[in-house]
Formats: sequence, structure tokens, C-alpha cells
Amino acid sequence: MKALILVGGFGTRLRPLTLSVPKPLVDFANKPMILHQIEALKASGVTEVVLAINYQPEVMLNFLKEFEAKLGIEITCSQETEPLGTAGPLALARDKLIDGSAEPVFVLNSDVICEYPLKEMIDFHKAHGGEASIMVTKVDEPSKYGVVVMEESTGKVEKFVEKPKLFVGNKINAGIYLLNPSVIESIELRPTSIEKEVFPKIATEQKLFAMVLPGFWMDIGQPKDYITGLRLYLDSLRKKSSSKLATGFHIVGNVLVDESAVIGEGCLIGPDVAIGPGCVVESGVRLTRCTVMRGVRIKKHSCISSSIIGWHSTIGQWARVENMTILGEDVHVRDEIYSNGGVVLPHKEIKSSILKPEIVM
Ligand code: GDD
Ligand code: MG
Repeated sequence: MKALILVGGFGTRLRPLTLSVPKPLVDFANKPMILHQIEALKASGVTEVVLAINYQPEVMLNFLKEFEAKLGIEITCSQETEPLGTAGPLALARDKLIDGSAEPVFVLNSDVICEYPLKEMIDFHKAHGGEASIMVTKVDEPSKYGVVVMEESTGKVEKFVEKPKLFVGNKINAGIYLLNPSVIESIELRPTSIEKEVFPKIATEQKLFAMVLPGFWMDIGQPKDYITGLRLYLDSLRKKSSSKLATGFHIVGNVLVDESAVIGEGCLIGPDVAIGPGCVVESGVRLTRCTVMRGVRIKKHSCISSSIIGWHSTIGQWARVENMTILGEDVHVRDEIYSNGGVVLPHKEIKSSILKPEIVM
């Protein structure tokens, strides 16, 4: 089986992290977002993944080469010269995806995180006999998403409305599809939206079916949702493979610590924290609801909550970093500094406190 991951867009909502790497390479729970998806695709029987990309393909491919060999999966790029939206890239990559086989193709948005029950989705797709399957999930605020109205008993989609202004339902498109080759063949090579043009049409033909996604789901394309997403991901990891979570007197709730990270004496860490490879957390540090990326040093007695600390940054001693502070790569926060929601661009030194949420250039 083959899969295509939609990796367009500039990830502006996840700046300053996306000033260093394309959004799919931003770490989530200690590995790049896109690896969560590629690993799940591999586990469901996919042998080739096509990345539909519209900028910096070299950065992505160089990075993923290492994992191609490790995971035993072929990864190639299909590059657009102009953004083709969410359906056009399928027409562009048509020859790579179909090559005479009748097998359905997985299509994924690159910024969603869940338990990826892809095998169940294949069974669902085979059982309903339609042309396309989509995963749906319930949310409180459906207007930000594609809303799906379906027949509960069969999953047959009656209506698909992208970003509705009026309430039509609270089941939304989770950004994971399984499409028969006939669907891909019908898409024209031009900028076009799968949500606005393709799905409404197949729904009218009664050939689109929706499966309710078991477990959690989150679009982690913005900081607040990224931090919530980590909590949900760690909760799910606790249920599925709790041995991957850290244990000890200094740990509270769900915490993921890379084996190469070093944690000092007298720290209190958790809940909902991820500490990446090569990090050094000195003594007496307090961490809650935060992500600390590869190579970060956190000095003595500092306190971090509800924040993301970008790669290779340092936090000075007695510093306090909180309230959606997002530090880009290689940011250095001096001793005793307070950051309340500072969003700091890469390679900066913070010498005075940031008292209210603001961007530091
Ligand atoms: N290659 C390529 N080219 N990819 C693109 C392009 C493009 O021109 N435009 C968007 N993408 C990719 C994005 O990188 C992302 O992975 C995916 O397509 C969806 O785009 P977003 O910009 O993240 O859309 P959204 O979050 O507003 O809405 C989509 O996702 C929701 C779930 O998170 C829609 O699919 C909604 O229906 C859905 O509910
Ligand atoms: Mg999105």
C-alpha cells in the first residue's frame, strides 16, 4: 500500500519553531511530528510514502533518509511549483500513487496526532464498499474544521461542509483518508481543495463513508493545541505502553524523558512533560506541562510551565518561564529572568524579563 502526506504550508502558527525546520519536523513527544505518522503507516502495511511538499524538499528528504533505512519504508517527494491545495497534490503524484494497482491509498494531513488505528480503517473501508473513507472525531468547536454529517448506523456521509459558519454538527474531519484509485484519477491537476470540492461531490454520490476515530485526536499546528496534544498523547501512552514513561520520586503524572537526558538532584517533573535527547536538567528544577527539545540545558532552581523550549536553548538559574512561552532554537535566558508568554525568535539572548505575552525579535 502507498500513502501521501500533505506537507504544504509554512507553519506560521507554530513560529518560532518553524523558522528552524519545516512544521512536520518539529519535535512532538521527542520525535518529529511526521515520524509518528510514518511509523503508523509502516505498521499498517504501507511500503511507500510520498510527501506532497511545496518548499524546502531537501531539508525534509535529508532528514528522512536516515529513517527510510531504519524503518524499511520508501520515502519520496512530490514537489509543487505553486501550492495545489489539499487535492491538487494527489493529481500531481498520481503516477507514483496508483501504478495500475487497485489498492486504496492513505492520505494524511501532516499536523494531526492520534493513535492512528489505520488497520481498523482498512477493514472499515473494505467492508462498506464505497470509494473513500475518512476518519472523524468529535470536537467542541467544529467551525474551525471540516464538519461531517453521517448516517450513524452505516457511516455513510450525507454532507461534508468545510469550516461552516452555522452549526451543522460536531463530528469533524480528522485529516486521515483512504481513497480508491478512482477518486485520485478524478482529481484535476490545478489548485483545488479535497474538503470543498472532492468530498462534497463523493458524498452526493453516496460513496463517502466516515469512521469515528477511537481515542484522542488533536491538530497540533498551534502552540496551545500542541501543549494540550502532548497531555492527550501521554495519557494514551500511559494506557498503551506505560513502560515508556518515566518513574521515580521526582516524577509526577505522565512524563517522557529521553534515555540520554540527565536529570539532577531534587527536581520535580510533571505532569505532561517531554524532555528530549541530550538535555541537561540541573538540580532543584520544577517542570510542568512543557516540552524541552533536544540539547537544552535548564540551570538550577528554575521553573517552567505551559511552555515549549526549542532545541539547544538554555534557561538560567532561578528563571521562571510560563504561560505559553515559546523559545525558538538556541535561545539563552539569563539567570533570574521571568517570561510570561514570551515568543522568542531563534538565536536570541533574553537579558530582561518579559512581563506580558509578546514576540521578541
Ligand atoms: N502539498 C500541499 N500543498 N499541502 C498543503 C497545501 C498545499 O497547497 N495546503 C495545505 N496543505 C497541507 C497542510 O500542510 C496540512 O497538512 C493539510 O494540508 C491541511 O491544511 P491545514 O492548513 O492544516 O488545514 P486546516 O487545519 O485549516 O483544516 C484541515 O484539517 C482539519 C483537521 O485538522 C481540513 O482538512 C479540515 O477539514 C480538517 O477538519
Ligand atoms: Mg491543520
